[in-house]
Amino acid sequence: MQKIAVLTSGGDAPGMNAAIRAVVRTCLNKGIKPYVIYDGYKGLVEGKIKEVNRRFVSEILNRGGTIIGTARLKEFVDIEIQKKAATNLKNLGIDGLVVIGGDGSFRGASDLCKLGIKCIGIAGTIDNDINASGYTIGFDTALNTIVEAVDKIRDTSSSHHRCSIVEVMGRHCGDLALYSSIACGADILIDPNTNLDEKKMYEEIIKMKEEGRKHVLIIVSENILDCNELAKKIEQNTGFETRANVLGHFQRGGTPTGMDRFRASVLGSEAVKYLLDGKSNISLYLTNKEVKVVSFDVAVEKKVINYKYLYEVNKVIG
Ligand code: F6P
Repeated sequence: MQKIAVLTSGGDAPGMNAAIRAVVRTCLNKGIKPYVIYDGYKGLVEGKIKEVNRRFVSEILNRGGTIIGTARLKEFVDIEIQKKAATNLKNLGIDGLVVIGGDGSFRGASDLCKLGIKCIGIAGTIDNDINASGYTIGFDTALNTIVEAVDKIRDTSSSHHRCSIVEVMGRHCGDLALYSSIACGADILIDPNTNLDEKKMYEEIIKMKEEGRKHVLIIVSENILDCNELAKKIEQNTGFETRANVLGHFQRGGTPTGMDRFRASVLGSEAVKYLLDGKSNISLYLTNKEVKVVSFDVAVEKKVINYKYLYEVNKVIG
């Protein structure tokens, strides 16, 4: 293998740049020509591929987003489009690809493997929704962003004796909600794994009000309900003045945390080594200090991790 390319795909995540940097620098260190592909699979199909040098990845370790751009390309399920992408790589003599992204990106990588391109994945998404991924790159930064935002919301919420609803991202995965609920001491958590019993929730809020609570904090995963509607219902049913805050894309930006940079750097570098060892069709992840592998097929399955104890912790300390 003489040439290796890297792309970022799907929603951007803080730490992606650190992974790109590690891929490029490891390639150069091993005498491999590194290439970047702009704007994910879209750029790959359009041939936006460029050879880069060491300087290209200077001073990006601390930057959020992805300097090579990203995109979601639904059309990539089409075999003819996949063939075009594979041909664009083969024409340049590139036979190894590092894909940094989420489940959709890994499905695309798995398809490219079938067309003879060796691919290694690195789970980069704030959602932490990849099956067996340790923590995905970007999750830690997004969690810290949420914690910082909630701390600020709490200041005003308790000054006004209000109930605050904070909606966090995660697509269909509740990790950002569950982890931030524990980290922020939320009173109520509504996520894809909790069955919302509205009547019970109102009773709990009324009880908190009667106990003289200065504020109530509710953390909600996106795609479950309309937070503004919920705020109105809480006011009507409990008399607790309520405000809704949808954090939105704010959660995807910002300088990556040390852990996100660390994971991204280690995995980016290891991805090149795995390609050079002839490995393909797998995603790498880090547990403690060990690099582990999971096939793309398994990585994109619904995450099966038993969080029962975390919900218990959340309940007893909230
Ligand atoms: O997958 C990352 C993510 O930020 C999800 O949490 C969210 O549901 C989605 O992307 C938003 O996507 P877009 O930026 O395309 O609106």
